[in-house]
Amino acid sequence: MSGPNKSYDPVQVSMLEAAALEAAVTEALTAFAAADSLESLKAARLAHQGDTSALSLANREIGALPPTAKAEAGKRVGLARARVARALAARQNQLEVERDARLLVEEAVDVTAPVARRRLGARHPLELISERVGDIFVAMGWEIAEGPEVESEWFNFDALNLGVDHPARQMQDTFFVDPPDAGLVLRTHTSPVQVRSLLERDLPLYIVCPGKVFRTDELDATHSAVFHQVEGLAVAEGLTMAHLRGTLDHFVEALFGQNLETRLRPSYFPFTEPSAELDFRCFICRGTDDHCRTCGGTGWIEWGGCGMVNRNVFQACGIDPDRYTGFAFGMGIERALMLRHGVKDMREMVEGDVRFSTQFGMEI
Ligand code: PHE
Repeated sequence: MSGPNKSYDPVQVSMLEAAALEAAVTEALTAFAAADSLESLKAARLAHQGDTSALSLANREIGALPPTAKAEAGKRVGLARARVARALAARQNQLEVERDARLLVEEAVDVTAPVARRRLGARHPLELISERVGDIFVAMGWEIAEGPEVESEWFNFDALNLGVDHPARQMQDTFFVDPPDAGLVLRTHTSPVQVRSLLERDLPLYIVCPGKVFRTDELDATHSAVFHQVEGLAVAEGLTMAHLRGTLDHFVEALFGQNLETRLRPSYFPFTEPSAELDFRCFICRGTDDHCRTCGGTGWIEWGGCGMVNRNVFQACGIDPDRYTGFAFGMGIERALMLRHGVKDMREMVEGDVRFSTQFGMEI
């Protein structure tokens, strides 16, 4: 800024000349108009309205003018600055409106657009029905037991009274695990869990074991190399076949419906004596429809094996067969699912198509 000077002629101060002011204003207006974003407008504002801009310098020069010249110069500079400020505000406003309009478009959410919905998946119905079976027994005070799927031959056969030469050893189409002399198989039934439980737990005992079993079957509508059974075992003093029958009656009714008569047909299993096959009244036709597709018109549904634990099994487990008696049963879980839900083809259960599973709901 120049110092006070009585002989100062405002016209001599170049910044205060009308033409210079006009040029500064024009330059500012051009810069504001050219600014195409709020950022570039900010830069233009600093250049043309900031402390070091021509107009600010001119404003400061007024202070150095003689009093007579101040008013006129002040008015001229004030008008110039006001024009610049108005133009700036207008451009600022315009750019803000443009930005808001652009954001509305850019950030718009199309609530009708299809979204990539992530499927929740579903628990497998075999898992659900296994748990339901477990719950039925847990509600009666039984415990859930587990055993390995790769099982020693001794547990899977020998301890269950299936000696090396026993024909039933060949009847069950066994997967043997390499090397052959390791004595390991993929368990062919859940009955080895009976033996493991008898060896590990205290008496009396009441256990159920739902689990995977393996047989060398080709996959078709009614067979699978991997399937599931549920094993039950009760051992105490004084248990009889009446207890077995009552337990199975309850099991069948809890899973398939009220008032379903059960029937035991004499059968043979090496690990039970006497042994029986369990049938129950067809819950669809109750024996009244010769063409019923669920029971094949027989009125009965075959579901599994059962019997009183063979004395030899007790002996193999170091339990006194004169003091303790027990009953055991084992049935197919796939078969239960097929019956209960009308699944016609076993392959649907192993294919892993989530659409099959979701039909059974999302019980967690
Ligand atoms: N383990 C037998 C099977 O797989 C079923 C069974 C279990 C029979 C318990 C009697 C007692 O066929």
